[in-house]
Amino acid sequence: MNRVKLAVLISGDGSNLQALIDACDDADYPAQIAVVISNKADARGLKRAQDAGIATHIINHREHDGREGFDRALVDTLQSHHVDLICLAGFMRILTPVFIDAFQGRILNTHPSLLPRHGGEGMYGMHVHAAVIAAGDTVSGCTIHHVITDVDRGAVILQKQVDVHADDNAETLAKRVLAQEHIAYPEAVRIMAQNLLYSDDA
Ligand code: GAR
Repeated sequence: MNRVKLAVLISGDGSNLQALIDACDDADYPAQIAVVISNKADARGLKRAQDAGIATHIINHREHDGREGFDRALVDTLQSHHVDLICLAGFMRILTPVFIDAFQGRILNTHPSLLPRHGGEGMYGMHVHAAVIAAGDTVSGCTIHHVITDVDRGAVILQKQVDVHADDNAETLAKRVLAQEHIAYPEAVRIMAQNLLYSDDA
Protein backbone atom coordinates (compact mmCIF):
# COMPACT_ATOMS: atom_id res chain seq x y z
CA MET A 1 0.00 0.00 0.00
CA ASN A 2 1.12 3.52 -0.78
CA ARG A 3 1.59 5.54 2.40
CA VAL A 4 1.72 9.28 2.79
CA LYS A 5 5.09 10.56 4.06
CA LEU A 6 4.76 12.66 7.20
CA ALA A 7 7.08 15.10 8.87
CA VAL A 8 6.43 15.90 12.54
CA LEU A 9 7.73 19.16 14.00
CA ILE A 10 8.18 19.36 17.76
CA SER A 11 9.66 21.55 20.48
CA GLY A 12 9.14 19.50 23.63
CA ASP A 13 7.81 16.30 25.13
CA GLY A 14 6.41 14.90 21.90
CA SER A 15 3.54 12.92 23.37
CA ASN A 16 1.48 13.73 20.25
CA LEU A 17 4.42 12.59 18.14
CA GLN A 18 4.31 9.33 20.12
CA ALA A 19 0.60 8.94 19.33
CA LEU A 20 1.43 9.35 15.63
CA ILE A 21 4.37 6.92 15.86
CA ASP A 22 2.04 4.36 17.47
CA ALA A 23 -0.63 4.87 14.79
CA CYS A 24 1.95 4.47 12.00
CA ASP A 25 3.06 1.15 13.53
CA ASP A 26 -0.10 -0.35 12.04
CA ALA A 27 0.76 -1.41 8.48
CA ASP A 28 -2.80 -0.49 7.40
CA TYR A 29 -2.46 3.10 8.58
CA PRO A 30 -2.21 5.30 5.45
CA ALA A 31 0.83 7.31 6.60
CA GLN A 32 4.37 6.83 7.85
CA ILE A 33 6.74 9.28 9.51
CA ALA A 34 9.75 10.15 7.33
CA VAL A 35 11.37 12.75 9.56
CA VAL A 36 11.06 14.53 12.91
CA ILE A 37 12.41 18.07 13.29
CA SER A 38 12.87 19.92 16.57
CA ASN A 39 13.94 23.52 17.08
CA LYS A 40 15.22 22.49 20.52
CA ALA A 41 18.14 20.12 21.05
CA ASP A 42 16.78 18.91 24.40
CA ALA A 43 13.24 18.09 23.22
CA ARG A 44 12.26 14.73 24.69
CA GLY A 45 10.41 13.91 21.50
CA LEU A 46 13.74 13.49 19.68
CA LYS A 47 14.42 10.41 21.77
CA ARG A 48 10.97 9.05 20.98
CA ALA A 49 11.74 9.42 17.27
CA GLN A 50 15.21 7.87 17.56
CA ASP A 51 13.78 4.93 19.52
CA ALA A 52 11.36 4.38 16.64
CA GLY A 53 14.19 4.53 14.08
CA ILE A 54 12.98 7.78 12.52
CA ALA A 55 15.41 10.35 11.05
CA THR A 56 15.72 13.48 13.20
CA HIS A 57 17.04 16.98 12.65
CA ILE A 58 17.61 19.80 15.10
CA ILE A 59 17.13 23.20 13.48
CA ASN A 60 17.72 25.85 16.11
CA HIS A 61 15.77 29.03 15.36
CA ARG A 62 18.45 31.07 17.16
CA GLU A 63 21.04 30.03 14.59
CA HIS A 64 19.13 31.45 11.65
CA ASP A 65 18.54 34.88 10.26
CA GLY A 66 15.12 35.81 11.65
CA ARG A 67 11.88 33.90 11.23
CA GLU A 68 12.23 33.68 7.45
CA GLY A 69 15.78 32.32 7.55
CA PHE A 70 14.64 29.67 10.02
CA ASP A 71 11.64 28.81 7.85
CA ARG A 72 13.85 28.47 4.77
CA ALA A 73 16.05 25.97 6.63
CA LEU A 74 12.94 24.00 7.63
CA VAL A 75 11.61 24.00 4.05
CA ASP A 76 14.95 22.81 2.64
CA THR A 77 15.12 19.92 5.11
CA LEU A 78 11.50 18.92 4.56
CA GLN A 79 11.88 19.01 0.78
CA SER A 80 15.01 16.87 0.99
CA HIS A 81 12.85 14.20 2.68
CA HIS A 82 10.08 14.56 0.02
CA VAL A 83 7.33 14.76 2.64
CA ASP A 84 3.64 14.94 1.68
CA LEU A 85 2.13 16.20 4.93
CA ILE A 86 3.52 18.15 7.88
CA CYS A 87 2.24 17.79 11.44
CA LEU A 88 3.05 20.47 14.00
CA ALA A 89 2.92 18.73 17.37
CA GLY A 90 3.78 21.09 20.21
CA PHE A 91 5.99 23.07 17.81
CA MET A 92 6.27 26.44 19.47
CA ARG A 93 7.26 28.65 16.54
CA ILE A 94 5.07 30.87 14.41
CA LEU A 95 5.58 30.13 10.73
CA THR A 96 5.91 32.76 7.98
CA PRO A 97 4.60 32.59 4.39
CA VAL A 98 8.05 31.24 3.39
CA PHE A 99 7.03 27.98 5.05
CA ILE A 100 3.27 28.08 4.60
CA ASP A 101 3.36 28.87 0.87
CA ALA A 102 5.82 26.01 0.28
CA PHE A 103 3.34 23.43 1.67
CA GLN A 104 -0.09 25.01 1.04
CA GLY A 105 -2.90 22.88 2.45
CA ARG A 106 -0.50 20.25 3.76
CA ILE A 107 0.31 21.59 7.23
CA LEU A 108 -1.68 20.47 10.29
CA ASN A 109 -1.50 21.59 13.92
CA THR A 110 -2.98 20.43 17.20
CA HIS A 111 -4.21 23.14 19.54
CA PRO A 112 -5.38 22.44 23.11
CA SER A 113 -8.74 24.26 23.02
CA LEU A 114 -11.92 24.34 20.98
CA LEU A 115 -10.86 26.90 18.40
CA PRO A 116 -11.74 29.66 17.70
CA ARG A 117 -11.86 29.95 21.50
CA HIS A 118 -8.51 30.62 23.15
CA GLY A 119 -6.33 30.69 20.05
CA GLY A 120 -3.93 33.14 18.45
CA GLU A 121 -0.46 34.44 19.22
CA GLY A 122 0.62 33.88 22.82
CA MET A 123 -1.99 31.15 23.36
CA TYR A 124 -0.10 27.91 23.77
CA GLY A 125 0.34 25.16 26.33
CA MET A 126 -0.67 26.03 29.89
CA HIS A 127 -1.65 29.60 28.89
CA VAL A 128 -4.57 28.12 26.97
CA HIS A 129 -5.83 25.98 29.87
CA ALA A 130 -5.43 28.85 32.35
CA ALA A 131 -7.49 31.06 29.99
CA VAL A 132 -10.23 28.41 29.72
CA ILE A 133 -10.50 28.22 33.51
CA ALA A 134 -10.34 32.02 33.95
CA ALA A 135 -13.17 32.39 31.42
CA GLY A 136 -15.34 29.94 33.40
CA ASP A 137 -15.84 27.68 30.37
CA THR A 138 -17.56 24.41 31.25
CA VAL A 139 -16.21 22.59 28.19
CA SER A 140 -12.86 22.60 26.46
CA GLY A 141 -11.05 20.18 24.17
CA CYS A 142 -8.65 20.08 21.29
CA THR A 143 -8.68 21.10 17.64
CA ILE A 144 -6.75 19.62 14.75
CA HIS A 145 -6.68 22.26 12.03
CA HIS A 146 -4.95 23.44 8.88
CA VAL A 147 -2.18 25.97 9.35
CA ILE A 148 -2.44 29.30 7.56
CA THR A 149 -0.56 32.55 8.22
CA ASP A 150 -3.37 33.78 10.49
CA VAL A 151 -2.42 31.95 13.71
CA ASP A 152 -4.92 29.23 14.76
CA ARG A 153 -7.49 30.35 12.12
CA GLY A 154 -7.07 27.59 9.51
CA ALA A 155 -9.95 25.24 8.67
CA VAL A 156 -10.81 22.73 11.38
CA ILE A 157 -10.39 19.04 10.55
CA LEU A 158 -11.75 17.71 13.81
CA GLN A 159 -12.34 18.59 17.44
CA LYS A 160 -12.80 16.54 20.61
CA GLN A 161 -14.52 17.90 23.67
CA VAL A 162 -13.87 17.40 27.40
CA ASP A 163 -15.73 18.69 30.46
CA VAL A 164 -14.03 21.32 32.59
CA HIS A 165 -14.47 20.28 36.23
CA ALA A 166 -15.19 22.82 38.97
CA ASP A 167 -11.98 21.85 40.78
CA ASP A 168 -9.75 21.81 37.66
CA ASN A 169 -6.51 23.74 37.47
CA ALA A 170 -4.53 24.25 34.26
CA GLU A 171 -2.53 21.06 34.84
CA THR A 172 -5.50 18.74 35.48
CA LEU A 173 -7.36 20.17 32.50
CA ALA A 174 -4.25 19.91 30.28
CA LYS A 175 -3.97 16.20 31.07
CA ARG A 176 -7.59 15.52 30.10
CA VAL A 177 -7.26 17.52 26.86
CA LEU A 178 -3.92 15.91 25.94
CA ALA A 179 -5.47 12.42 26.17
CA GLN A 180 -8.01 13.55 23.54
CA GLU A 181 -5.30 15.04 21.31
CA HIS A 182 -3.63 11.63 21.25
CA ILE A 183 -6.83 10.20 19.74
CA ALA A 184 -7.71 13.17 17.53
CA TYR A 185 -4.36 13.70 15.81
CA PRO A 186 -3.99 10.19 14.37
CA GLU A 187 -7.66 10.36 13.26
CA ALA A 188 -7.14 13.69 11.49
CA VAL A 189 -3.93 12.48 9.81
CA ARG A 190 -5.78 9.38 8.61
CA ILE A 191 -8.45 11.56 7.01
CA MET A 192 -5.89 13.83 5.34
CA ALA A 193 -3.70 10.94 4.21
CA GLN A 194 -6.66 9.08 2.68
CA ASN A 195 -7.69 12.24 0.83
CA LEU A 196 -4.17 12.67 -0.54
CA LEU A 197 -3.96 9.03 -1.59
CA TYR A 198 -7.40 9.07 -3.25
CA SER A 199 -6.60 12.27 -5.10
CA ASP A 200 -3.40 10.51 -6.17
CA ASP A 201 -1.44 13.50 -5.02
CA ALA A 202 0.89 11.86 -2.53
C1 GAR B 1 -0.14 19.95 23.15
O1 GAR B 1 -1.12 20.07 24.13
C2 GAR B 1 -0.42 20.90 22.00
O2 GAR B 1 -1.78 21.08 21.74
C3 GAR B 1 0.17 22.19 22.52
O3 GAR B 1 1.37 21.79 23.13
C4 GAR B 1 1.23 20.47 23.66
C5 GAR B 1 2.38 19.64 23.16
O4 GAR B 1 2.44 18.41 23.81
N1 GAR B 1 0.37 23.10 21.44
C6 GAR B 1 0.05 24.39 21.51
O5 GAR B 1 -0.35 24.94 22.52
C7 GAR B 1 0.26 25.16 20.21
N2 GAR B 1 -0.50 26.38 20.21
P1 GAR B 1 3.41 17.26 23.30
O6 GAR B 1 4.78 17.88 23.10
O7 GAR B 1 3.42 16.28 24.43
O8 GAR B 1 2.83 16.71 22.03
